Amino acid sequence: MKNARIIGVGHYVPERVVTNHDLEKMMDTSDEWIRERTGIVTRHWVREGETITDLAYNATNMALERAGLKPEDIDFIIVASIAGDAQFPGNGCFLQARMEIPGVPAMDIRNACSGFVYALAVADKFIKTETYRNILVVGAEIQSTGLDLSTRGRDMAVLFGDGAGAAVVTATDEPDRGILTTHLHADGRYATKLWSEFPSVINHPYITHEIVDSDRIYPKMEGRYVFKHAVSKFPEAIMEALEATGYTVEDLDLVIPHQANQRITEAVAQKLGISMDKIVSNIHKYGNTTAASIPIAMSEAWEEGRIKDGDLICLAAFGAGFTWGSVLLRW
Ligand code: UT7
Repeated sequence: MKNARIIGVGHYVPERVVTNHDLEKMMDTSDEWIRERTGIVTRHWVREGETITDLAYNATNMALERAGLKPEDIDFIIVASIAGDAQFPGNGCFLQARMEIPGVPAMDIRNACSGFVYALAVADKFIKTETYRNILVVGAEIQSTGLDLSTRGRDMAVLFGDGAGAAVVTATDEPDRGILTTHLHADGRYATKLWSEFPSVINHPYITHEIVDSDRIYPKMEGRYVFKHAVSKFPEAIMEALEATGYTVEDLDLVIPHQANQRITEAVAQKLGISMDKIVSNIHKYGNTTAASIPIAMSEAWEEGRIKDGDLICLAAFGAGFTWGSVLLRW
C-alpha cells in the first residue's frame, strides 16, 4: 500500500508587522497583558489589496521548490481556511487558477484551527487509495480584516495573525514512512463558544446595515472555556495517535501543535511530560494564524534543521467547532 509523505514545506506571512505596542494605540490593552496571557509579541497583518490567494501562492511556491516539483505535477489541491477571498467559490479554486493548472481538482476545508490537520488526513486517504500522487495541502488565513480593533473586541483582536503554510504530500512505497495515522474529532455542541455568526443566510437578507453596525459581525469567543477544552483535547489527540501506532511520548522527536496560546502549549507539554525543546512554538512572532499555524511552524522547523529524515513528528490541533485532531508521521 502507498503511504503519504511530505516532501516539501513552505510558508509566507505578509510584510506588515504589528506589535503589541501598535495595538495599545488602537484599544485598551498592554504589551504586558498580551505577552503574559498569550506569549504573543508581534503578528503579521495584510495590507489592503493582499489576498488569501496571494499568501497561499507564495507558500505553495516555496513548498513546490523544496519538493523539487512544478505546479503541473500537482494532481489535487486542498486549502484549509476559515475565511474566503470571496463568499464562494472556495480559496482552492483561486489558488488553482493562480498556479495555472486548470482541470486539477481543488477543495476547501473550513475547520478553523484544525483545518490543516483535517486537510492532511484527507490527502493521506486519497494517496492511500491511489487516487492521487502529489497533493498540495495549504493552510491560509487573513484574520486581521475581520477583527474588532476597538477595546470591545480586544480579547480576540490581540490573538490573531495572517499567513499561509503549504505542504506537498506525495505517494511513497516505503513502509513506516510518511503519515502513519490520522485522528479527527468534532463536537458541534460547542459551536457558539468560538464563532463568527455573520454574514449568515438565516437572515433575510443575509446581511443588513444593522448587522454590519452591530458587534455581532465580529468573531466571538468564550476564552476561558475554549482554553480549558484545548488543554485537555491536545494531549488526548496526541495520545490517540501514539496508542494507535504503539509508540510512546518518549519516541517523539517533535510535536508541532496549532499555535493558539503559549500557555496552552506549555500546559500540553507539562501534561504529556514532553520537554519544551521538543515542541515547536512561534506564536511570539505570528500570533494565532488558525489553519496556517501548523504548516508555518513545520516549514520554519524544517528551515532551522529541527526536522531530520526519519524523525517521528506529531501534529495536533484544536479549535472552533469544536474540532480537534492529530497526525503522526515519520519524516
Ligand atoms: O485557536 C484555537 C482556539 N483559541 C484558543 O485556544 C484561545 C483560548 N483562550 C485563551 O487563549 C485565553 O482565554 C485568552 C488569551 C483569550 C484570554 O486569557 P484569560 O487569561 O482567559 O483572560 P480572561 O478572558 O479571563 O480575561 C481576564 C481579564 C478580563 O478583565 P477582568 O474581567 O478580569 O477585569 C478581560 O476583560 O483580562 C481582560 N482582557 C484584556 N485586557 C487587556 C481581555 N482581553 C484583554 C486584552 N488586553 N487584550
